[in-house]
Order: sequence, then structure tokens, then C-alpha cells
Amino acid sequence: MQVIILKDSDDVANGAAQRIAELLAKKPNAVLGLATGSTPIALYQRLIAMYRAGEVSFRDAVTFNLDEYLGIAPDNRQSYRSFMNEQLFKHIDIDLANTYLPECSQENNPRRVGAAYERRIADAGGIDLQILGIGANGHIGFNEPGSSLGSRTRVKTLTERTVIDNSRMFDAKEFQPRLAITMGIATILEARHILLLAMGEHKATAVHKMTEGPVTAMCPASALQMHRNTALILDEAAASKLEELDYYRWTHLQNEPLVSQYGHFHDL
Ligand code: GLP
Repeated sequence: MQVIILKDSDDVANGAAQRIAELLAKKPNAVLGLATGSTPIALYQRLIAMYRAGEVSFRDAVTFNLDEYLGIAPDNRQSYRSFMNEQLFKHIDIDLANTYLPECSQENNPRRVGAAYERRIADAGGIDLQILGIGANGHIGFNEPGSSLGSRTRVKTLTERTVIDNSRMFDAKEFQPRLAITMGIATILEARHILLLAMGEHKATAVHKMTEGPVTAMCPASALQMHRNTALILDEAAASKLEELDYYRWTHLQNEPLVSQYGHFHDL
């Protein structure tokens, strides 16, 4: 895992946006794995600004989101479909028909959605770059602690902690789902490149555990230690509990010349 520590959340968003633009310049029909939550909002704003400035195009891109709530319709303002449309898709030149979430309509059996979603990802050629946030309990997507490291896209029950963390997005009287369909940990690990973003002190413990702790289902993000091409982009606060800070800063500096010469996606 490559650990990149930047000054603040603006730099994190900017760093991630630059990588996505670099990927799309190299491979205009790239398959992007996208995330919801507060973390990627600044990244999406940056991408929209870059699109408006003519610095990036999503015309041929395909996207797969990590997860979607179960029990609320796509046009509900709380769905992750609505989130993606509002925060990114309607502001850029992506073809909405090329944007996928693991949605389940009312007449469908939610337990069938996972396998179909996995097939769709495979048919698209697999995910080139997966963007991730991290839950304060170490979850990725909605793979809560205890999720199998071999899990595939499926229905998951959210932990009480996640329900409470996400309740800030819901009005008091609004239905807040306890179930979601999420890519599995094994699904995420199949992405060719992974970029996990974390900002703020409330993420520092999870970042420390996933990076420097053991690989364990109790910290789902720790599975990324097994991935060959993962970078974490952190602000100072999210990095504050890392024990090997100096080493990460040092390796980042040593790698920079290689990256500026060959880019991040030489294998694609
Ligand atoms: C949510 C999402 C995750 C996200 C995480 C952190 O519940 N399912 O994909 O990474 O929790 O959210 P936030 O970025 O709002 O801190």
C-alpha cells in the first residue's frame, strides 16, 4: 500500500481528481468504481470543475458504485443513485446509461442483484480504478466488521454504528434503511487500482488499523493490504495515528520522479 499524506482535504480531493483525469486521458473508456458519503464530495466537485475547464471528459467512461440502500427507490432523494446524480453525473458529460449502482427494484429479489451486478462489472472488463472512503469502524462500501474477506456483492445489514454515523443525512421522520447491497471485499480487491481517501481525525484510528494492523475481517479495509495497487490519500488529521509517518513521507518523495515520468497507470 502506498500512503500519501497531504496537507488538507482540498489537497486530497485535488490529488484524487488528478489521478482520475490522468486515467481518463490514458483510457477514455475506463471503468471507474465510485463511492458515496461525505468523503468523495470534494473530489466530485473538483472533477466537475475540471470537466467545465475542458480538462477531463467522461463521455466514454463507465461507472459502478460500491453500494446502494435497500428499501428506498432510486428517485428517493436519500438513495445513492440520487446522491450520484446530484453530486456528479448531472454536471458532467457521462452517459447515464453507463452508470450503475447495485439497485434493487421492489419486484426484484435482492439476493439476486449481487450476482447480476458482478456479471455486469465483468462484462464491462472489470474496474480500472476504485475510489473508496472508509467508515470509522473500518468498513469499505457497506462491508461491516466481520464481513468475509472473500465476500461478493450481496445484501448486508448495517451496524448500529454505521446507522448512527449516517443518520446525519436523514430527517428525523425519514425512513433510514438498515439494509444495503454492497460490493463484497473480494469484488473490491479485483479492481486494478484502488484509491482510498480519508480526511479528519475521526478516521485516524480506522486508517491506522487498516494500514498497520493485522489483516482481519474485523477491519474490512485491512484487506487492502493484500491488493497490489492501492494508494491511500490522507490529510494530516486522518494520518495522525500512523506509526510510520516518516517512512511514508520518505517513500512518497522517492517515488515522485518515477510517477512524473511514467504516470500512475503504466499497466493499463
Ligand atoms: C458510508 C459508505 C461508505 C463510506 C463510508 C464513510 O456508509 N457506505 O462507502 O466510505 O460510510 O462515509 P463518510 O465519507 O461520510 O465518512
